[in-house]
Amino acid sequence: MKAMTLKQPGGFEQITLTELADPGQPAAGEIRVAIKASSLNFHDLLVANGTVPTAEDRILMSDGAGVVEAVGEGVDEFAVGDAVVSTFFPNWSAGKAFADVGHFGHTPGDGQQGMAAEYVVRPVSAFTKAPSGWSHAESATITTAALTAWRALVVDGQLKAGDTVLTMGTGGVSIAAIQLAKAMGARVIATSSSDEKLAKVKALGADEVVNYKSHPQWAEDVLRLTNGQGVDHVVEVGGPGTLAQSIASVKVGGHIALIGVLTGVQGEVPTALLMAKQARLQGLIVGSRQDQQDFITAMEVNGIRPVIDTTLPFAQLAEAFKLQLSGKHFGKICVEW
Ligand SMILES: NC(=O)c1ccc[n+]([C@@H]2O[C@H](COP(=O)([O-])OP(=O)(O)OC[C@H]3O[C@@H](n4cnc5c(N)ncnc54)[C@H](OP(=O)(O)O)[C@@H]3O)[C@@H](O)[C@H]2O)c1
Repeated sequence: MKAMTLKQPGGFEQITLTELADPGQPAAGEIRVAIKASSLNFHDLLVANGTVPTAEDRILMSDGAGVVEAVGEGVDEFAVGDAVVSTFFPNWSAGKAFADVGHFGHTPGDGQQGMAAEYVVRPVSAFTKAPSGWSHAESATITTAALTAWRALVVDGQLKAGDTVLTMGTGGVSIAAIQLAKAMGARVIATSSSDEKLAKVKALGADEVVNYKSHPQWAEDVLRLTNGQGVDHVVEVGGPGTLAQSIASVKVGGHIALIGVLTGVQGEVPTALLMAKQARLQGLIVGSRQDQQDFITAMEVNGIRPVIDTTLPFAQLAEAFKLQLSGKHFGKICVEW
């Protein structure tokens, strides 16, 4: 079978289209899935470019969607022909927080072999059913980015109609957050470095937009747009370079979902302002399998479909990462066999 693997020390030129042995038939409790599509996340990019070290010849990509080809003994959750989507933490079934998340030891495409293969054989917990009627590329956007938006706003944020949500940039997590927030009756203030992309987020339903590049003190705009009150939720994907503005933007008693590392992994925090705001700064990493099942049910009911910027063949995975690195994309970049 074909797979996209990574030679160490990483780098896009080290991504290789490889011929590997077929993984064979599933044992008890396992399923065999023909992977049809994956989607790119910033985490996959950090593994691929060598920032996050991984094993030699690692099969890349955490997200995978495809069709069940065979089920092992005792498997009754899936049947042959089911459309499925992978889970980011196959060993986190449910519950609030999970101690194992920080090192990504069980995450496909990092600590474990990933989804950039034609076939995988995994325990049942490595997949859930995909939303009915979605393309495999659409389903592949769920595992990491969309589930993170769901965790931020719904599981941790307890979002309610009428809340105001602030999003940053127009990547996979943020676009999913905008769609979800609008579907749930929230008001959205969206930021981007590009006026062209801001026009697109408006078309997607964002109520107000701010260009964070031409307005580096964008918290002032957020406060102006909220009569000085601030927002109920910040979907914080920037990290240290944006956190001070996020804290300035949040309402007293509000919630900042600390998600991203786009500007780095450590920095100064205006602790006194965070304290004065009595805001909740909640770190999170993706979500549980149960969260994914809940998210999929919600998508089937509200009819949201993911925004896919570009879909390329798996063999062009390096080009797909270069597109992601360029920041030209809006929403998700997917790859298909
Ligand atoms: N904790 C978790 O569980 C989790 C899960 C998923 C992702 N993440 C993290 O969340 C971040 C976003 O991931 P993603 O997959 O959505 O990435 P992505 O699809 O590559 O999106 C990146 C987008 O972020 C915007 N951006 C870049 N630098 C920015 C800055 N300084 N301030 C504000 N926006 C900026 C840009 O949008 P514009 O072009 O519109 O400016 C860019 O297109 C990454 O750091 C990723 O590691 C964390």
